Parts: sequence; structure tokens; C-alpha cells
Amino acid sequence: MAGVGILVNVLVTLICSWSVSAIEGTNTTEVTDKTTSLLRADRCKNVVENCFCKEKAVTCKGARFTNMDELSPYIKYTTTRISITNGQLTEFSGFQIQLDNLVYLNLSGNLISTVDMNAFRNMPYLNVVDLSNNPVRCIGDVFQPLLNIREMYMRNCNHPDTMGKLCMPEKMIPNVANLTFLEVLDLSANHFDTVTEDFRGFLCNKAFNIKTLILANNKFSYFSVDGCLTSLELLDISFNNFHSLSDEETKYIESIESLEQVKIEGNPFNCTCQIAGFATWLNTTQQPLDVNNIKCPEGANTPFAGKRIVDLDAVALCGEASIAVCFDGRNGDHTMHTRSINAIIAGAMFVAFLIIVTVMLMIYKRHRAKRTLRKGGYANANYYASEPSYDRINK
Ligand SMILES: *[C@@H]1O[C@H](CO)[C@@H](O)[C@H](O)[C@H]1NC(C)=O
Ligand SMILES: *[C@@H]1O[C@H](CO)[C@@H](O)[C@H](O)[C@H]1NC(C)=O
Ligand SMILES: *[C@@H]1O[C@H](CO)[C@@H](O)[C@H](O)[C@H]1NC(C)=O
Ligand SMILES: *[C@@H]1O[C@H](CO)[C@@H](O)[C@H](O)[C@H]1NC(C)=O
Ligand SMILES: *[C@@H]1O[C@H](CO)[C@@H](O)[C@H](O)[C@H]1NC(C)=O
Repeated sequence: MAGVGILVNVLVTLICSWSVSAIEGTNTTEVTDKTTSLLRADRCKNVVENCFCKEKAVTCKGARFTNMDELSPYIKYTTTRISITNGQLTEFSGFQIQLDNLVYLNLSGNLISTVDMNAFRNMPYLNVVDLSNNPVRCIGDVFQPLLNIREMYMRNCNHPDTMGKLCMPEKMIPNVANLTFLEVLDLSANHFDTVTEDFRGFLCNKAFNIKTLILANNKFSYFSVDGCLTSLELLDISFNNFHSLSDEETKYIESIESLEQVKIEGNPFNCTCQIAGFATWLNTTQQPLDVNNIKCPEGANTPFAGKRIVDLDAVALCGEASIAVCFDGRNGDHTMHTRSINAIIAGAMFVAFLIIVTVMLMIYKRHRAKRTLRKGGYANANYYASEPSYDRINK
């Protein structure tokens, strides 16, 4: 029995020491590396061209598939990032499985013109969506499930439909009651020209926490969102159709204390007396404007073509000097050319001269008339005076 006990002991000792040595021999770094490399392994290698499918991220660049069928098996519940860019996708209908971990979806640079109503239904925690450079047009309704969206990129998404009609901004932005978390909205290069009531309502009442608003390369000529977007840090309205910034607009920019960058370069500013007020504002504002790039359009029919507007004062813009005559909310100060003022002064002087001459003539005439009268009097007096004497002489 003792022999059996010893044998058991020996066996136990052996097993223990073996397992200890096994544990000791296991390089934990190697294990982690193995796990990581498993996670990093490209699961769709040689199956889906131009794609890397990992445990958490699926990335395709320049893939040639037109829908998700081929890629879908590699998208899992654990996937956090999906990026299918510069490919040939023509439609997006989402994914079959629930994607509670998905925070980033980049579909930019495809040919997507159709987005299914339910495409975003099973990715409620999506933070970033990029649909730029796809002709998706009016898809505002499909974003309804994206209540946690933080960054939305919709650059160059507005292509004319078969009737040649373009989408209005409010039909492209999310049609939701409240987008409390939206901080970045890029709507550049979409042919937008009007801050419609609904678009204004969206910016003011639904997406009021926007920090970055990019409206570059549109056709806006005004931006009236007074009292809204009070958390703005970056406002980009460059390369639009602004001829000037109205007093209302400059006051709005002045009022946003959180601003870190304002881009308004590349607009067809009307470098005439009309922008004198705007030019003065550029020279005095403390807001972080791209003043060095704000120039009179090159090739414009003005002596200031290509010049920085901040360097143009009212004297330069309006001739020798100008005075603010009256104020117009839309176009800024109405200034007047000194020439016109001089003309007015000259006219007034001429009129005054005429009046003086007339008055003098009248006085002269009256005077003359009196003199003639008095002269006649003298004559008569002389006559009468002499007459008696004459009479007397005659008598
Ligand atoms: C574990 O393996 C890594 C790489 O294979 C090596 O650099 C490291 O020194 C090893 N650690 C131990 C404790 O052996
Ligand atoms: C989406 O992908 C494109 C192309 O790779 C890239 O330029 C863009 O910055 C990406 N968007 C985001 C939000 O990361
Ligand atoms: C927006 O929605 C959030 C959560 O859904 C809510 O807490 C908040 O009160 C809403 N804000 C407004 C202004 O409706
Ligand atoms: C530019 O200003 C001039 C005079 O200040 C005005 O006559 C003209 O209509 C303006 N042009 C535009 C496009 O606003
Ligand atoms: C800009 O402001 C400075 C300081 O007030 C002033 O000296 C300068 O003449 C102004 N320049 C123009 C172009 O108005």
C-alpha cells in the first residue's frame, strides 16, 4: 500500500512539476501575440479582393463588388469599424446582423444612389458615418435610427435627378426630432443655395450642439442663423456665393465665443464701395478668420482684383473718402462716393449762388426803382422848387 502511496506521490509531483514547467515555459507575450495575430488575421484574404477583414475592422479600398453579399459573412457582432471606400457599391441596404458595436461606417467614394429605409436600423450606436462622394441625394429619412451620431460627412452627395432637380438641404440632413450628439456636419459641395426654414430649424433646434459645420463649395449667398449654433468651433462657408457679409452675419460671427476657425475665403466678394463696412470689420474683428485668404476675386472687373480685402479701407474702396450715409442690414453700410458728395455740394453752391444773384438783382431793382422815384421827386422838387421861383420870376 505504501508503494502505491509513493507512486501516487511521485506521479502527483511529476504531473505538478510538468504543469508548472509548462506554465513557466509559456511565454505570455507569445500568447497575446497569437491572440492579436488571430484578431489581426485577414479573414477574407484571397476571397474578397481589396479587403482586409479583421475581428473588429473590415476595410476595403477600391473593391469591385456592387453590393454587400460577398462581404457580409465577415461582418460580425464584434465589428466596430467598416470602411468600404472608392469602390463600386451602387446600393446600401445595411447588414443582416445586429451591429451594436459598430461605431464607424465609411462608404465614401462609391456609386451609391439607393439607401434602404432600414439600412441603419441595426447599428444604433454608430458615431461616425461618411457617405461623401456618392449620389445619395435626399436620404434624410433613412438616418432616423442614428440617435447617437456624432460625425456626419455628406460631401458631394447632391447630384441632379433625372429631371435635373437637386435636393434641398433639409431633405438630405437627418429627419429626426433631436440630434443632441451631432458635433460634426459636413455638407460641402452639394449645390445648396438657400438656408430654408427647415434647414435653419434643424441647425437651431435639432442639431444645436454642432461644433464643426462645413458648408464649403455650395452656393449660399447668405447665412442667417442668428442666435443658433452657439457651440460652433469651426464654421466653413468658403467658396460659396457671398458678395459681402451683412451686418447681421458679422454680428452673428462676433457673438459666437467658442469659434476657433472661420473660413470665408473664395467667395465672389463685390470689391466696390458696397463692402466697405465688411472690410472694416475684417480689420477690427478678433474672431479667428482667414483674413489673409479673403481677397477680391482674381480677374474681377475692379482695380482690387486679387487684393486682400482687409487692406482695403473705405477711402480706397469708395474713391477718395466716404461717409456712411445710411444702413441696410443686407448689404452693410451704404457709403457714398466723395464725388457724389462733391456733386451735391457743388449743386447746392450753384443753387445758393442763383438765389444770391436773384436776391441781389431784386434788391438792385427795388433800389433803382426807389432812386428813379426819388430822382423824379427831386426833379419835381426842383421843378416845383424852381417853379415858384420861376413863377415868382415870371410874376
Ligand atoms: C517571449 O517571446 C518574445 C518574442 O517571441 C521575446 O521577445 C521575449 O523575450 C519572450 N519572453 C520570455 C519571458 O521568454
Ligand atoms: C473615409 O474614407 C476616405 C477615403 O479613404 C477618407 O478620405 C475619409 O477621411 C474617411 N472618412 C472619415 C470620417 O474617416
Ligand atoms: C434630445 O434627446 C435626448 C435623448 O433622447 C433628451 O435627453 C433631450 O432632452 C432631448 N432634447 C431636446 C431639446 O429635445
Ligand atoms: C456690387 O456693388 C455695386 C455698387 O456698390 C452694385 O451696383 C452691384 O450691384 C453689386 N454687385 C453685386 C453682385 O452685388
Ligand atoms: C486697420 O486698423 C488699423 C488699426 O486700427 C489702422 O491703422 C489701419 O489703417 C486699418 N487698415 C485699414 C485698411 O482700414
